[in-house]
Amino acid sequence: MNRMPRNSLTVRLLAATALALLMTTTVVGALSYVVVTHYPGVWLEADFVSTAEEVADGLIFDAADRPIALKIHPGLTSAYEALHNDMLYRVVDPDGNVLLAADANAKPLAPHGEAFDPALTRFDLMRDGNLLHVATFPLDRPGPIYFLQLARSERFQQAMTGLESSTAHEAGLTATLAALLIFSAIVFYTIRRVLKPLHTASEAAAHITPGNRHTRLSTEGMPSELVPLITALNQALERLSVGYAVQQEFLATAAHELKTPLALMRGTVELGNSPDRTTLLADIDGMSRQVQQLLQLAECSESQNYTMGQTDMVGVVADATAKLSRLATNAHVVMHTTLAPCVISADRAALFILLRNLLENAVRFAPRGSAIDIVLNAQGLSVRDYGVGISAQDIAMVFKRYWRGSESGNGEFGTGGSGLGLAICLQIAQAHGWTISVHDAEPGARFQVDFLQPRGA
Ligand SMILES: Nc1ncnc2c1ncn2[C@@H]1O[C@H](COP(=O)(O)OP(=O)(O)O)[C@@H](O)[C@H]1O
Ligand SMILES: [Mg+2]
Repeated sequence: MNRMPRNSLTVRLLAATALALLMTTTVVGALSYVVVTHYPGVWLEADFVSTAEEVADGLIFDAADRPIALKIHPGLTSAYEALHNDMLYRVVDPDGNVLLAADANAKPLAPHGEAFDPALTRFDLMRDGNLLHVATFPLDRPGPIYFLQLARSERFQQAMTGLESSTAHEAGLTATLAALLIFSAIVFYTIRRVLKPLHTASEAAAHITPGNRHTRLSTEGMPSELVPLITALNQALERLSVGYAVQQEFLATAAHELKTPLALMRGTVELGNSPDRTTLLADIDGMSRQVQQLLQLAECSESQNYTMGQTDMVGVVADATAKLSRLATNAHVVMHTTLAPCVISADRAALFILLRNLLENAVRFAPRGSAIDIVLNAQGLSVRDYGVGISAQDIAMVFKRYWRGSESGNGEFGTGGSGLGLAICLQIAQAHGWTISVHDAEPGARFQVDFLQPRGA
């Protein structure tokens, strides 16, 4: 059997049950002890009332409606007979005639020297040096009026108190111990049964590896309180599994993308006949760019790589346009900026990469002598060129990794791009909680980054 740590559910439930039981018995025990010892009157009164009911129920009347016998449980009958100095009853008519009693020649009970008074419902009486507590009840029945008198001696009451409290003590203790044992056993087995599906699930989870990542944890027989946890875990596994598949596919594509230019370069070199230096260098540049973009993509896919801070967007746009100004001049393109002051929480370096990618594409596709419009306001940022634009069916593709359109642009980037630039933009936008979209602006393409999400989105 496995050891039970302190925060085990079984241990906690057992402890709680034991505590609840102990507290209940302690409180009930203490309360009854206080009543019996400190408020004997209360106990006596309760005794009188219950005995009066029992005796009244046991009275047998003859045809003339006179009480002739008492039929109560044998224990009480013999107590009245044996303890006739300490436990008494009388059935009395309004004139003070005793009609029924356990002791022979009985007289109605009344304080010393006084006659029977039905209005005197509680009083004490000394009889042969023995203090008696007396209670008088009218019998609640149709027909002639009778009174029932009950008496208890003080010494009898005290003996009972002692007896009662010690038996109550023992009984209470035994009952508590027995309850504790039974409760513990039931709690223990219930918990074991309830947690069995959890053990099965843990075992299944322990065997999940990238190789069998489609395994899911079963919720069958699971306590309903745990089902949300298992479901959430399964959903997390599903997301991880999808992410893993995407990474694998990406890795395969990346390897393939690098293999082709490498094979071409190797072929050129192997042929031996004076490899074209310029082509080779261009190929190497292309590959370097691809590796750099790959690293950038890996970096911006991890949320912990972002350092958010209040960023002056106007400054970032200015930096990016300055960086690309030479490229734009070479392509005979001008960049028009319409900037409204905007300070937003963002990672400045990531934002610069996003903007540079959009501007690079725009410069690449902008026709000679055309302009690029850059608009910034509190809602978002847009980059628009007047080039070939993006066809309706390509709009869904542009942000996919390694996707490249058939148009290669104005060739300023050697063998074209890596197809990763816009995927990087998408990652960066998502990391900031922004959306990025592309629109056919006819002529040209417009890339839009929205900082503020529409309500409810
Ligand atoms: N401004 C644009 N005008 C027309 N097509 C564009 C524009 N920007 C991107 N594209 C298309 O999207 C493809 C992917 O772009 P991108 O992800 O930046 O990759 P690349 O590294 O090739 O630039 C490009 O190959 C091009 O076909
Ligand atoms: Mg690009």
